[in-house]
Amino acid sequence: MAQLWGGRFVGETDELVYRFNASISFDRRLLRQDIEGSIAHASMLVRQNILTQEEGTRITEGLKGILEDVESGALAITEEYEDVHSFVEANLTARIGDAGKKLHTGRSRNDQVALDMRLYIREQVLKTDERLKTLLQTLLDLMEANLDTYMPGFTHLQKAQPVTLAHHLGAYFEMFKRDRQRMRDLYYRMNYCPLGSGALAGTTYPLDREDTAIALGFFGPTLNSMDSVSDRDYVIDFLSALSVIMMHLSRFSEEIILWNSDEYRFVEIDDAYSTGSSIMPQKKNPDIAELVRGKTGRVYAALTGLLVTMKGIPLAYNKDMQEDKELTFDAIDTVDGCLVLFNGMVKTMKFNRRRMEQSAKRGFTNATDAADYLVKKGVPFRDAHGLVGRLVLTCIGENKSIEEMPLSRLKEISPVFEEDIYDAISLKTCVENRLTQGGPGRKAMEAAIAINRQDLAADWKDSLRSGVRQ
Ligand code: ARG
Repeated sequence: MAQLWGGRFVGETDELVYRFNASISFDRRLLRQDIEGSIAHASMLVRQNILTQEEGTRITEGLKGILEDVESGALAITEEYEDVHSFVEANLTARIGDAGKKLHTGRSRNDQVALDMRLYIREQVLKTDERLKTLLQTLLDLMEANLDTYMPGFTHLQKAQPVTLAHHLGAYFEMFKRDRQRMRDLYYRMNYCPLGSGALAGTTYPLDREDTAIALGFFGPTLNSMDSVSDRDYVIDFLSALSVIMMHLSRFSEEIILWNSDEYRFVEIDDAYSTGSSIMPQKKNPDIAELVRGKTGRVYAALTGLLVTMKGIPLAYNKDMQEDKELTFDAIDTVDGCLVLFNGMVKTMKFNRRRMEQSAKRGFTNATDAADYLVKKGVPFRDAHGLVGRLVLTCIGENKSIEEMPLSRLKEISPVFEEDIYDAISLKTCVENRLTQGGPGRKAMEAAIAINRQDLAADWKDSLRSGVRQ
């Protein structure tokens, strides 16, 4: 057992207690962040004349050596340490002697772990944003290629009005675009540095918190030391944003599963993203889409888990907070995997344009347009609605679409119908005339795509890199 405390204790820690308490098996993931934070802390201690220049150099070199050795495999992080912080300090002291014991001056594991976690989440926010950007790029390309791929739009899973594939994909584009905006929002909210908050009440050493905050890429230090060691809001914000991403991926997956079924045959998922059955030789299953849908549950679980963990904790740090890590790490890995695989699946999927178009022609998706035709010729909308309703009933009885009805029959419903009805309710007219902003008509779609192309080219992370704070 290697731990950072013990002076106050007479008895040995029970082996089971030690294991129960330890977090090394999962917080080892924070090694790099822990070392980056420690280097910034030590450098500041030197600038504040709390450590000598020589001690600072030895500490920094020692810490870099630990990271290199772990990354190369020369040094293993073993369960004999309580947590990643103990591992680093013990190794540092073994390497450089007494100077290693001075690193923790003016610091507590409470502000240390708060910092490590913040650095880690911040990286994950940027990575998730990048993954979303890749998916948006894929969708935008598909949208541009499918501006006139007609398909039925559904409400209540019943055919409603015709749209285009570009329009349908565009709906998901907007969702994932907002998911990216959430990444930006939470980056700007969370990017303040807790280091220097000590155990809960700061310290009597003359720490320069501005210095460490800037060195670590934060906008500045946090403003209340008790809040700093107790705050896990940003983890909850992130899990909440990840949950929304999963909700979007899951809805999209559900549609792909439907579209890939024999009943729809709107799409065919590539062999590389499908799996077979051990018993039914004919099967090609959409397992990836199903798994993405399924894994949504565990990401929601992480969010609710942490919300519940945090709800009753008095200020300031309490050990309950160690429970933030496993849930969060699992959610992060899950979402990352889902975003990568989902993008690959969509990119390689074949869209059956003919099948979609045929489907759009059935199911009276042009009934609203038939009513609008009558309205344009002076019939009040409510009357037109009733007339076309009767017409649809007649068509269903004869297994015909509206456009298959001869004009003489249409005139039995309303004398207002003329020869130009057929053009007015053709699939092409129905879609192309829907030119309201945000609608599926080509011109409207092109305008939306142009805005989105521009948005996608201007990455919010660029202004971050150039140091401009929005
Ligand atoms: N492993 C701990 C955590 O993840 C580190 C902080 C420990 N602090 C303490 N006072 N025991 O929360």
